[in-house]
Amino acid sequence: MSAPIISPSILAADFSRLGEELTAIDTADWVHVDIMDGHFVPNLSFGPDITATVHRLTDKPLDVHLMIEEPEKWVETYAKAGAHTIIFHVEAVADEQAAVDLAQSIRGLGVRAAFSIKPGTAIEPWLDKLQYFDEVLVMSVEPGFGGQKFMPEMLEKVRLLRRSIDEQKLNTVIEIDGGISPETIEAAAAAGCDAFVAGSAVFKAEDPTSTVERLRNLAAGV
Ligand code: DX5
Ligand code: ZN
Repeated sequence: MSAPIISPSILAADFSRLGEELTAIDTADWVHVDIMDGHFVPNLSFGPDITATVHRLTDKPLDVHLMIEEPEKWVETYAKAGAHTIIFHVEAVADEQAAVDLAQSIRGLGVRAAFSIKPGTAIEPWLDKLQYFDEVLVMSVEPGFGGQKFMPEMLEKVRLLRRSIDEQKLNTVIEIDGGISPETIEAAAAAGCDAFVAGSAVFKAEDPTSTVERLRNLAAGV
């Protein structure tokens, strides 16, 4: 198994010193960018301009999590802003075919395609669509806010995904988002996650640089 991927969420960063915050997570693999529109989720964050700024400030791949309605209208904009992966919510598209079509247009832009799934949404209908996605983001909190409590029951979805991806011999990456910390990351890794988003656990830590390494070691079982 390859090394666990750690993707700190800049939602928890101090935006008045964004450059320094990004330098502090130099040990990270990806940077997670949370886009919220105040409709799909009851919170607003930032949009394509800040995403492009983050892209200028770091050479790390941007994992762009779209918590927005009508994601199909925005994928090209976020591709241009520098997204390495675009993650849309299955709850924000009409049906499974629309999700597959959107994934194909994201890949057509040269960007990795991913879907995310809210805690109340079942994963089973999506298991035969995994071949169209480079990554699946399992939400382990209700999307909208950082700093919430991890929902361990979401690991059942991770186990189902792990089994299905392995059976189909796919490379789809399983990422988890919400409440990931040194206390919860080992359970998520044991369930089969490859990649881990962490906001407050990294940026509110005294030393974000070593916290990222600690999280990776815990996930790897070192
Ligand atoms: C929640 C966002 C998360 C959030 C994670 O809606 O999608 O990425 O920033 O924050 P923590 O790690 O603090 O739960
Ligand atoms: Zn997120």
